[in-house]
Amino acid sequence: MSRTPFVAGNWKMHKTIADAEAFVSGLLPLAGDVDDVQIGLAVPFTALQAVVDSTRGSAVRVYAQNVHWAEHGAYTGEVSIAMLDELDVHGVVVGHSERRQYFNETDADLRKKVPALLAAGLEPILCVGESDAQREAGETEQVLRTQVVEDLADVADEDLAKVTVAYEPIWAIGTGKVATPQQAQDACAFIRSVIAERFAEQAAQVRIQYGGSVKPDNAAELLGLPDVDGALVGGAALEPASLAGIIDGARA
Ligand code: 13P
Repeated sequence: MSRTPFVAGNWKMHKTIADAEAFVSGLLPLAGDVDDVQIGLAVPFTALQAVVDSTRGSAVRVYAQNVHWAEHGAYTGEVSIAMLDELDVHGVVVGHSERRQYFNETDADLRKKVPALLAAGLEPILCVGESDAQREAGETEQVLRTQVVEDLADVADEDLAKVTVAYEPIWAIGTGKVATPQQAQDACAFIRSVIAERFAEQAAQVRIQYGGSVKPDNAAELLGLPDVDGALVGGAALEPASLAGIIDGARA
């Protein structure tokens, strides 16, 4: 089963519209016509329209970093799926550990968000991952199982491969402490096996990214692992040359 590698940059709370446009101007000459790696940028709400417009016709797909599950309603400060769809985004990153930790996003929320995105034709990038304490306590697989099972519970079996899963161990995010190839492979293979308990064919197709301190110099090794189909990149996705270096790693 060959899965197209998928490298996405997550800008988190970085870049004004002007910064975002400067980034795209730098990235497109380096990676704008790559066709053997899917490229994504997860962009702050305020710069989404500008990045959708400036990447149109290129290989770069644009993602939001959060969404509410309700169609509309009294949810001050939230953004709906229809609002994002209208901007022509390709998908949305959901369940990032920063949103789970600091903004109280729960598996119950994700259980609603993921199928709602699919129903609108948008691609969810569902983030899962264990903390340092959970890994130390030997709970990694249990934590991953709970997140994967609960967050995908209301996705139809035949739609499972429309979701991208990002395995992001919390202890590797922004720390420079990258998972070893064995740790990354084991966790991504485990996630695939949990999905296979529902539908083996879909599990063979679903893309699973690794995220956490991915850099141009470690990308090729991580992306070459059998169950790692791409990367979700934070700090190293803030500069075009660095993200392009990781995209090159996915082609190696
Ligand atoms: P870093 O690449 O900065 O470790 O961040 C990873 C991440 O959280 C991507 O979503």
